[in-house]
Amino acid sequence: MSRTYYIAGNWKMHKTRAEAAELAKALVSQLKDGKHRYLVAPSFTLIETVAPIVKGSNIRLGAQNMACEEQGAHTGEVSVLQLKDLGVQTVILGHSERRHNYREDDALINKKLKLALKHGLEVILCIGELLEEREAGKAEQVCETQVVKGLEGVPAAELANIVIAYEPVWAIGTGKTATPEDADAIHAFVRKLIGKLYGTDAAEKIIIQYGGSVKPDNAAQLMAKENIDGALVGGAALKPDTFVPIALFG
Ligand code: PGA
Repeated sequence: MSRTYYIAGNWKMHKTRAEAAELAKALVSQLKDGKHRYLVAPSFTLIETVAPIVKGSNIRLGAQNMACEEQGAHTGEVSVLQLKDLGVQTVILGHSERRHNYREDDALINKKLKLALKHGLEVILCIGELLEEREAGKAEQVCETQVVKGLEGVPAAELANIVIAYEPVWAIGTGKTATPEDADAIHAFVRKLIGKLYGTDAAEKIIIQYGGSVKPDNAAQLMAKENIDGALVGGAALKPDTFVPIALFG
């Protein structure tokens, strides 16, 4: 069964509106003949600038987070309704920077995920272990908990709107990439887990991206692995020179 590769750029807390517009325009033009699936996820304040640039192109519009409630007294949060109003199609949830720096736990991420699905957004659910968890031989166990709790209460029919991104925390922004073999082993484990939870058809179909220091010179080897279906790219997503070669691999 062939899955479509899905390459996503997580711009994190970078860029002004003018810089974001310049990057988005360059990507639209340089990826127009790309055969994979693409997404950019700019900061909230940049979404309105980027939306009309990517509209009608092969690049989806994403957000990096969202609130767990639809609306109300939640100072500093951004709601699913506000994101939809801007044309956002996908939301990244459970990024390790949210889990570890802002104390988001699996229950909160699950609440956000179900709300996003209810409003028809696609979700990229990030999972991944810390270095000490890997060294203690607990990488699979950590990822299993994050998947099981993150997807709690999600029916099989909704799974088509879920993408999983495996991002070992020790590989994010550090220049250390998991070897393609190590990454693929976790991807295979997660796919098997999805099979147990949702059946083999769902397991075959689900897109599992790898994230953590993906660069032009390692992207192809990673994505050549059977269970690696794309990439969630941080640092290298900030420039066309580094994102485009990743996005056009193969
Ligand atoms: P990185 O970030 O590519 O800079 O390691 C990946 C991510 O955090 O999504």
